Amino acid sequence: MEHRTFDRETMRITVDYNNMMQETLGARGLTVDELKALPLEAAAKAMHAKRDQMKWRELPHNQDEIVAEIEAVAKDVRARFDNFVVLGIGGSALGPIAVQQALSHLHYNDLPKEKRGGPRLFVEDNIDPERMNALLDVIDVKKTCFNVITKSGSTSETMSQLLIVTDLLHKTLGEDISTNLIATTDHVKGNLIKIAKRENLTTFYVPDGVGGRFSELCPVGLLAAAVCGIDIRMLLAGAAYMDEITQNDNVFENPAYLMAALQVAAMKRGANIHVLMPYADSLKYIADWYAQLWAESLGKRVGNDGTEIYAGQTPVKSLGVTDQHSQVQLYTEGPFDKVVTFLSVDRYRKTMQIPDGYLDIPDVSFLCGHTQNELIAAEEAATEYAVMKSGHMNYAIRLPEVNAFTVGELLYMFEIQTAFAGELLELNAFDQPGVEEGKKATYALLGKPGFAEKKAELDAAPAKLPAYIVK
Ligand code: PA5
Repeated sequence: MEHRTFDRETMRITVDYNNMMQETLGARGLTVDELKALPLEAAAKAMHAKRDQMKWRELPHNQDEIVAEIEAVAKDVRARFDNFVVLGIGGSALGPIAVQQALSHLHYNDLPKEKRGGPRLFVEDNIDPERMNALLDVIDVKKTCFNVITKSGSTSETMSQLLIVTDLLHKTLGEDISTNLIATTDHVKGNLIKIAKRENLTTFYVPDGVGGRFSELCPVGLLAAAVCGIDIRMLLAGAAYMDEITQNDNVFENPAYLMAALQVAAMKRGANIHVLMPYADSLKYIADWYAQLWAESLGKRVGNDGTEIYAGQTPVKSLGVTDQHSQVQLYTEGPFDKVVTFLSVDRYRKTMQIPDGYLDIPDVSFLCGHTQNELIAAEEAATEYAVMKSGHMNYAIRLPEVNAFTVGELLYMFEIQTAFAGELLELNAFDQPGVEEGKKATYALLGKPGFAEKKAELDAAPAKLPAYIVK
């Protein structure tokens, strides 16, 4: 793969937070003193002290060998298969979806094979039986490579998909299904590693200390990206650059720390909702990925000292300009309970000229001679203005353009923001007891061995009252 060369500075992401501050927003805005009153120094110190535990921070630096291996496997997959299907959920699916949408053609799967250069990509992150049936209607199993991804190796949803797929593969290919199935999992824990060994599968590992939602930049996300022809070295180079940038302990010079401080200060003012609004279809699913990162990391009942805090900020996914025609009314005239983060792009990868037409109708022809690029930029500026004018907090993250380098920067910046916010809120951003609770309840309901006590607990839950069920 050819690597594009450029000066890294020209690809640096910026954060414009004028519209969060009192100078612009009046009394509804934050002050610098309010930001400084947060435990910034302690949080920055903790980020250094805990770096060893946050193994995901090393991913941009320590994967030379694994990247070469991923590229080799991806090359083979690109040559042999028509389809690449990821089986996984949560952190094992949202990253692959987000990166592919950001960096592949927006109608990648619909392109003719020679233009795609690689197989179609499907990421099956649900267990809706209609969806699994629908997938099987559009793929030929023989010409499909499946990548089953589960860090824990035990997630029921993923295991159910695996059972369906291995059954089909065995029926179609016979005993050896290793030609069409790749596993990505923990190197010792869980059941997938056992199955991978039994079936002699090519296996990639989720490194220790890399949790699901922080795993996009390891084989979890890199394999699917490479299979789609995305430059994964560039993705990691962007993340490495952001790692350098975010070494700065001065919060006002560190975009990730600053964004965390802005959100935490806003939360103290009652802004319990965080809207992420990309102005690019390519970044649409980055908002999905971010929603998991922010919600699952910061939504916590107890803080580090064990006291109940019920912390968190509800993420909302929005898309510019589409949601200007659905949600923006609420963002301008609704309650002051949210921060809107615009995610904008300076240079789109394509230009679309709006041609001359209907010149005798001025309300239409004012668009003529402009480009859709100008139109989307004007609409974003206008929406930022309207949200600011109505006194609602907002800020803008600006990408010079969408490419593998800037997407790597962006993902890493959001991860650091989340970790730093966890430190400011004095909670553990890396566990997910609430998610685990749901997983255990599912095991109990389906009779998994070892969950009898949980089943008894569920049986003892208050019965549903018919009086509260309307017919
Ligand atoms: O961030 C997390 O840990 C979770 O959202 C997991 O990614 C999700 O539950 C899937 O887990 P696993 O990859 O173990 O199947």
